[in-house]
Amino acid sequence: MYAQALDQQPAASDQQAEDARLLAHFQARIDAEEKIEPNDWMPEAYRRTLIRQISQHAHSEIIGMLPEGNWITRAPSLRRKAALLAKVQDEGGHGLYLYAAAETLGVSREELEQQLLDGRAKYSSIFNYPTLTWADIGAIGWLVDGAAIMNQIPLCRCSYGPYARAMIRICKEESFHQRQGYELMLSLCRGSAAQKAMAQDALNRWWWPSVMMFGPHDAESQHSDQSMRWKIKRFSNDELRQQFIDATVPQAHFLGLELPDADLRFDVASGHWRIGVIDWSEFKRVLAGDGPCNRQRIKQRRAAAENGEWVRAAALAHAAKQRQRSAA
Ligand SMILES: [Fe+2]
Ligand SMILES: [Fe+2]
Repeated sequence: MYAQALDQQPAASDQQAEDARLLAHFQARIDAEEKIEPNDWMPEAYRRTLIRQISQHAHSEIIGMLPEGNWITRAPSLRRKAALLAKVQDEGGHGLYLYAAAETLGVSREELEQQLLDGRAKYSSIFNYPTLTWADIGAIGWLVDGAAIMNQIPLCRCSYGPYARAMIRICKEESFHQRQGYELMLSLCRGSAAQKAMAQDALNRWWWPSVMMFGPHDAESQHSDQSMRWKIKRFSNDELRQQFIDATVPQAHFLGLELPDADLRFDVASGHWRIGVIDWSEFKRVLAGDGPCNRQRIKQRRAAAENGEWVRAAALAHAAKQRQRSAA
C-alpha cells in the first residue's frame, strides 16, 4: 500500500509538470503570433471558448438569413432582388464555413444545430427584430453588416487557424453586404420624401440594436480578458463599438439622416463621436428570449430542420450505397 502511494506521487506531479510545460509552450506560440491548428495541444478552456464563440457566430449567420429572406419576393427590382438573394446565400455559406471550423474542435454540426433548436445556444440578438419595410434591408446591410465587419476583421488574425481562415473570406463578402446596404439607403434618401422618411424610420429602429451588437461594456464583459490573452479577441467591446460609431455617424450625415440620439456629439479633444446612454435592459430582455421575433425565428429553424429531414436521410442512404458499391 505504502509502496503504491509512493509510485503514484511522482506520477501525479510529473503530469502537473507536463501540463504546465504544455501550457507555457501553447501561450508562447500564441505570443509569437503562431496559429494553433486542430491537432495541436490546447487547454480545454480554449477549446470550449472557441466552440461556444464559433457556433454562436454560425447560428447568427443562419438565423440572420430569416429577416432578410422575408423580403426576397418583394424586392422592388430585378437588380435589388439578385443582390439580396446573393447576400442571403452568402450568409448561409458563412454559417457552413463556421460550423466546419467548429467541427475541427471535436464537436459535430448535428450537436451544434440541436443546441440552437433546443434554445440552449445563443445567436446575435439583432436578428430578433422584424424587417417592417424595404428600407430595413438597406439599414441591415449598412448597420448590421457594418457592425459585423468591425467585429470580424480582427478575427482574421485570431489565434485558431481554421477560424481565422474562415473569417478572411467571410469579411470580403461582408464588405459587399455593407456597400449594397448603404447604396440602397442612398437611393432611398435621394428619392421621394416618402422614401427618405422610410429610410429615417429604418435607421431609428436599427441604430441602437446595432450599437448593442458589440456586447456589454468592457467592465461587464465576462469572457474578455482571457480571450485577449489567447488572441481570440484583439480589441475590447467598447473599442470596437467606438470604431463603428466613428465610421457610421458621418455616413448617416452624408445620407442626410438624423441618428436617434439627442445626446450624440463630436468630442473635439479626442476626435470621437460620443453617444448617449445605451438601454441595456432592452438588450438583456431580447437576449433572454423576449424580443419581437425570438419565438418566430426558432420556430422557422425547427420547421426547416423537419422539412429537410428527408433530404438528409436520402443523402445518407445514397452515400451508404456508394460506399457499398465501391467496397464490392
Ligand atoms: Fe455573414
Ligand atoms: Fe453579411
